[in-house]
This record gives sequence, C-alpha cells and structure tokens, in this order.
Amino acid sequence: MLLLASRATALFRPARVVSVGASSAFLFVTDNNNRTMSSFPAWQVDKVEDGSFQGTEQTLSIDSLPHAENGVLIRVTHSSLNYKDALSASGNKGGVTRKFPHTPGIDAVGTLVESGEPCLVTGYDLGMNTAGGFGELIRVPSEWIVSPVPFAQPRTAMVYGTAGLTAGLCVQKLVENGKATPQDGPVVVTGATGAVGTVAVELLAKLGFDVVAISGKPDKKDLLLQLGAKEVCGRDALDATKKPLLKPIYAHGIDTVGGSPLAELLKQIQPGGSVACCGLVAGAQLETTVLPFILRGVQLLGVDSVEIPLDAKKAVWDKLATDWSCPQTEASAVDIGRHQLDPYLKAFLKGASSGKVVLDHSLTTTSSSNL
Ligand SMILES: NC(=O)c1ccc[n+]([C@@H]2O[C@H](COP(=O)([O-])OP(=O)(O)OC[C@H]3O[C@@H](n4cnc5c(N)ncnc54)[C@H](OP(=O)(O)O)[C@@H]3O)[C@@H](O)[C@H]2O)c1
Repeated sequence: MLLLASRATALFRPARVVSVGASSAFLFVTDNNNRTMSSFPAWQVDKVEDGSFQGTEQTLSIDSLPHAENGVLIRVTHSSLNYKDALSASGNKGGVTRKFPHTPGIDAVGTLVESGEPCLVTGYDLGMNTAGGFGELIRVPSEWIVSPVPFAQPRTAMVYGTAGLTAGLCVQKLVENGKATPQDGPVVVTGATGAVGTVAVELLAKLGFDVVAISGKPDKKDLLLQLGAKEVCGRDALDATKKPLLKPIYAHGIDTVGGSPLAELLKQIQPGGSVACCGLVAGAQLETTVLPFILRGVQLLGVDSVEIPLDAKKAVWDKLATDWSCPQTEASAVDIGRHQLDPYLKAFLKGASSGKVVLDHSLTTTSSSNL
C-alpha cells in the first residue's frame, strides 16, 4: 500500500525533477527547466583485483536501476548506516548481497520523483540486491514506501533508520508480548553502544525502565549513562559458563548480539521475563538448554524489521516521531558524506562503531550530480 500525503512537508527539499520517461534504449528524468538528466551519484561496491571488495564514488546511469513494473523513482537525500550495510559493502557476507557491483544502503529518505512527496523506505530488499540509499536515486516497488514521512525533517528519519525501527520493535515486543512493565525489575540491553542498542537504551529509560547496558567499550560508559542507563556492565557479565541456569538478575532484555552472550542472558532472566532478540554480531548459533523456558517461563521473542508489513513499520515510525522520540540519539548522531563511508562501515565489522551515523548526500564533495 502506498500511503500518500496530500501535500509535501515543507522541511523536505522539494524534488526538482518533474517527469519520468523512456527513450527506446534509455531511461531519463526531466527537471522543471525541461533538462534531461540521465545519471546520478552513488557509492558503489565492487570486487577489486586482490579479491577484496571496495566502495567508490561513481556516476551511474538511471537505467542501471531495477526496471520493476511497479517501480517508483525516489530522489534520496539521506541514508543511515547499519551493520547489514557493512556486510553488503564487504562482499557476500551473511548472504546479504549476491551480485556486484552494488550500491548498499538499506535505508533511504527523500522525495518521490514524480510528485515531490516526502517518502521513506527501509528494509525489504533495499540495499541488499536492490540498489540502495547510498545512491542519490533508487527505484523500488510502491509497496515498500512510507509516505508521508512522520518526521518533520528527513535527517531525523535516518537518525533512527532501520536500527531505530528495530529498537522500537524490540521495545514493543517486550511490552506487548512480554507484558513488560518498569515495576518488573531491570531490563538489560546488549551491544548497548551500537546503532540498535543506543536507541533501545534511551527509549527504555524514557519509558521508565531501569536499564542495565552491557558494553565492550568502557570509554562509552558516560554516553550510556547520559542515554539513561542506570548501570553499565562489561561484556564479561555474559561470559560463557557451563551452568544451565544462573541467578535471575534481569526482568527482561533486548539482545542485539546473539550467540553465546544471548545464551548466558537467558540463564539470568527472572521467571516470566522476556528477551527480544534481533542481532547476531556475536554469532548466529544459539546453544542453550530448555531450562530457562520450562523452569522459569522465559520467553524468547524474535524481532524482524525487514519483511514485516508496511503498516507494522509505520506504527513504530509514528511512535518514534512522537511519544517514543529519543532526543539524545537525535542530538548525538553523526552526519557524514559518501566520501567518508568506508571507515565508518569498517568500524561496524570490528565491533567498534558507536551510536547513529547518518549519510547526508549533500555533504559529498568529491562527486558531481546532475540531479
Ligand atoms: N532483526 C532485524 O530486523 C535487525 C535490524 C537491525 C539490526 N539487526 C542486527 O542487530 C545487530 C546490531 O545491529 P547494529 O546496527 O546495532 O550494529 P552495531 O552498531 O555494530 O552494534 C552492535 C554492537 O554489539 C557489540 N558487539 C560487537 N561485536 C560483539 C561481539 N563479538 N560480542 C559481543 N558484543 C559485540 C558492540 O557494542 P558494545 O561495544 O557496546 O558491546 C557493537 O557496537 C546486527 O547483528 C544486525 O544485523 C537486526
């Protein structure tokens, strides 16, 4: 379903492109002055001679975009950096991207080329095997598009991006499926300084939960306390043990790392508690016993932000734009241009990234655009 606004939000830059057409061999867009434009800048990843994958600034022709029958052209102003983008930018890691050259970017915000209406796309196949938001133009099925965008400024939508949406979905799962309330006791967040983790910490604190942040970055303790964490622990709080159950310390949890830390966390959840799990940076394998589930009634709640119906995404976007807004996250997000993508993406794969990073296409200085 394409949800269209009656008028464009004033703070979004109006699209200068007013019509879309096709010559016999070439797709083009035409601007207000009737100039035909056929290319756009993008950060594209390809395999290089030594077998590694490298991203470079390219000027791509519009006919390089997918020609899906119901495809809608979007002029992208901002994208957001996610762990999945880092996988996509480094070759076929985790089955994210099969074909190269490829433009990553699982998040995009901008305007519909035909109407100038603000719009937002996250997940589905965007940035995986469909050219993504690291290019200034995308073409996606209308069913993927949220329009109007519930945020006044496009940048704010990308401060949250897929990571913020996922944090919101995790909190929603804990509250709705896990019946979590602040009175239950402390809620733990793993990978707390990450893109999902930081939003989860701030949002849970805002909703009145006592948050215990688990992080491998001692130098980010103050940041986590500022976001609202009551306590910050090192990753050793979830070191592997042989015991099938441990002292039940936490009422609930949001786990962004998976693997052995998640198995240990399940052993420390109080009877009736829940863990919303969304990530795998510490491993996709989960080796556990059934004991936390059958002796303590613990629930493991899976969270998917990618393939869920558009209306389910929109419900959480609306909350993040209003009652669930995270002012600290919004204020502390870092803005970069395309020429700065490489080191920021590599930091994700080293577990060294922290907080939210927004790609602002207008900050790119090393490429020329004819859009
Ligand atoms: N299910 C979904 O729909 C969905 C949506 C978005 C993201 N995800 C997944 O969620 C995970 C987090 O995404 P993100 O964008 O927040 O990534 P991120 O920014 O890289 O955050 C992950 C954090 O996990 C911690 N970490 C890294 N390596 C670790 C290790 N080996 N063991 C324990 N902790 C480690 C680090 O935080 P500390 O240093 O603070 O410990 C890191 O900052 C990823 O696996 C991503 O694919 C899933």
